[in-house]
Amino acid sequence: MKAVILVGGLGTRLRPLTCNTPKPMIPLANQPFIESMLARLRDQGITEVILAVQYLADRFRAALGDGSQLGLKVHVIEEPEARGTAGAVKNVEHLLDGTTYVFNGDVLTDLDLRAMLAFHREKGSRVTISLTPVDDPTQFGLVETNSDGRIRRFLEKPRAEDITTNLINAGTYIIEPEVFRYVPPAQFYMFERGLFPVLLQTGDPMFGFPSRAYWTDIGKPQAYLEVNHDILIGRVQFPIRGHQIAERVWVEEGVDIHSSAQLVGPLVIGAGTTIGRNARIIGPTVIGAGCQIGADVTIERSVLWENNQVADGALLRFCVLGKDNQIGAKTSVTDGAIIGDQCVLGAENRLERGIRLWPGTELSDHAISF
Ligand code: GDD
Ligand code: MG
Repeated sequence: MKAVILVGGLGTRLRPLTCNTPKPMIPLANQPFIESMLARLRDQGITEVILAVQYLADRFRAALGDGSQLGLKVHVIEEPEARGTAGAVKNVEHLLDGTTYVFNGDVLTDLDLRAMLAFHREKGSRVTISLTPVDDPTQFGLVETNSDGRIRRFLEKPRAEDITTNLINAGTYIIEPEVFRYVPPAQFYMFERGLFPVLLQTGDPMFGFPSRAYWTDIGKPQAYLEVNHDILIGRVQFPIRGHQIAERVWVEEGVDIHSSAQLVGPLVIGAGTTIGRNARIIGPTVIGAGCQIGADVTIERSVLWENNQVADGALLRFCVLGKDNQIGAKTSVTDGAIIGDQCVLGAENRLERGIRLWPGTELSDHAISF
């Protein structure tokens, strides 16, 4: 079966991590998100995937090629201009030939797609929407169903007073392509505010498939560290790369860990990374490839992308570092701070409380302290 993945959108809420890296390429446990997603789709019987992108098509092509390395056929199709979620699929309608999966490209889930397809067929549905419970539906699309699962109301980004259920659109659809006759060609048109409300009026059968599978929209701020932690502690099925050298400690090739360093899992350490004398690496933590972690460094509950140099005595706790940063000796980065790419932080700085540094920021020694 074929699938369309929606990967437009600028990922603004995840800046500065998305300044240089498109949201679907952001690494989770050291793997570009889209790669792990494609592998999951392949393992659930999908053979051909169309990525509907809005910009940076070449970045996707360079990373994924024609998909053969992943055992899939991948097409990357760029929209002439933003077409919206339904318009993006309309734009690739000529490549579809029957029941099709459509995915929001920013959702990490281990939803059972085959069970959803069986449900879709059993109900004779035209559009089936996966549903997940959340605490606060105001950020999402609220979906009300009858007891047999038929959708009777769809309300995108509901106001607090309109909330009648905690079930929301989880961003995975199974669609019969004939419904695209309702979608105007070459225009901006959304599933959420356009097609779904229209289908409620036309009476085409539209069903909700509720599931308690793991589910997170990785595009929401704050979620990024949590998602990595969930993968490492095993809350979501996710194939972690590398081999295990201790309980929940995975390393890739060429990692060099000083014998006096202390490692407390769960940890993922990328290829070619070195960890210095008396360093303490406490999980859940991800360290990207090619990082150099100095002596007496402490890293706790953090995510580092590739090629970071962390000088002696630095402290990284509950923070994210993009790629190619230099963190000075005895500098601390803590409490949800996010450092973009190519930042150079001098010695003995203190960055905390959710501070975000844009790519290329430079700080001299003692520039920020308390
Ligand atoms: N190709 C393309 N073109 N993709 C798009 C476009 C577009 O014009 N607009 C959005 N997308 C992609 C985004 O990249 C993302 O993968 C997906 O469509 C959903 O867009 P978001 O901007 O992330 O929407 P949201 O998270 O606020 O809400 C959507 O997802 C929720 C679940 O995470 C809605 O579908 C909600 O109903 C849903 O609950
Ligand atoms: Mg989203």
